[in-house]
Amino acid sequence: MKKIFLLLLMILTVSGCGGTAQDKKSAEPAEVKAEDKAPVATQSADKKILILYYSRTGEEYGLGNITKGNTEIVAEYLAKKTGADMFEIKPAKPYPDAYEPCTEIAKLELESNARPAFASNIDNLAQYDTVFIGYPIWWGALPRVVLTFLEANDFTGKTIVPFCTHGGSGLSGTERELADACPNAKVLSGLAIVGKSAQNDFPTVEKDIDAWLTQLGY
Ligand SMILES: Cc1cc2nc3c(=O)[nH]c(=O)nc-3n(C[C@H](O)[C@H](O)[C@H](O)COP(=O)(O)O)c2cc1C
Repeated sequence: MKKIFLLLLMILTVSGCGGTAQDKKSAEPAEVKAEDKAPVATQSADKKILILYYSRTGEEYGLGNITKGNTEIVAEYLAKKTGADMFEIKPAKPYPDAYEPCTEIAKLELESNARPAFASNIDNLAQYDTVFIGYPIWWGALPRVVLTFLEANDFTGKTIVPFCTHGGSGLSGTERELADACPNAKVLSGLAIVGKSAQNDFPTVEKDIDAWLTQLGY
């Protein structure tokens, strides 16, 4: 009787201790999270990266007419460096190409805390662990259409890495806006790139982005 009891105890101990290789593997992400480390460097089946961005073309301050948005230039480079997928947020009603009318609409939207509609949603957000979110600074804030998009989706458990382009005001506290819009995500420190430099001095911008990615562990 005593032998049978000991045998049962051994079986229970071996199967219940979590000592298998599989268990150790599944514990690894939790360890990384606890140490507040950045995610893995490249796109892989179990840790996918998305570059989600909004960017406008047309007349831009100090640049004239641009055919590729400043933020889009940075977004494309990030995708190339990380192997990430990209998704562009497009407003249902495009903003005017002319700079002044665009700033007026953006100002009204900010003052009324509007949520302008976006054209189409992403259908596979759940597969991404890390989402780089890129946007221009508008009136010291996120363009409201970015907020509409974020609030319409679930970023629970994801790591958000902000990046913006701007005309001089830097990130302007937009990391806080992202954290408020995605309360169950972890928002890392962002990167701010001068919009004009993205268009006219990309070698310098590239160095800044590379240094930031290295700092993040990419
Ligand atoms: C409506 C609007 C508002 C802007 N407000 C700001 C601002 O508050 N601070 C700033 O530094 N730049 C501001 N800018 C400049 C843009 O942030 C900058 O040119 C940015 O790189 C544009 O990115 P995009 O080409 O990806 O849209 C504004 C531009 C627009 C069109």
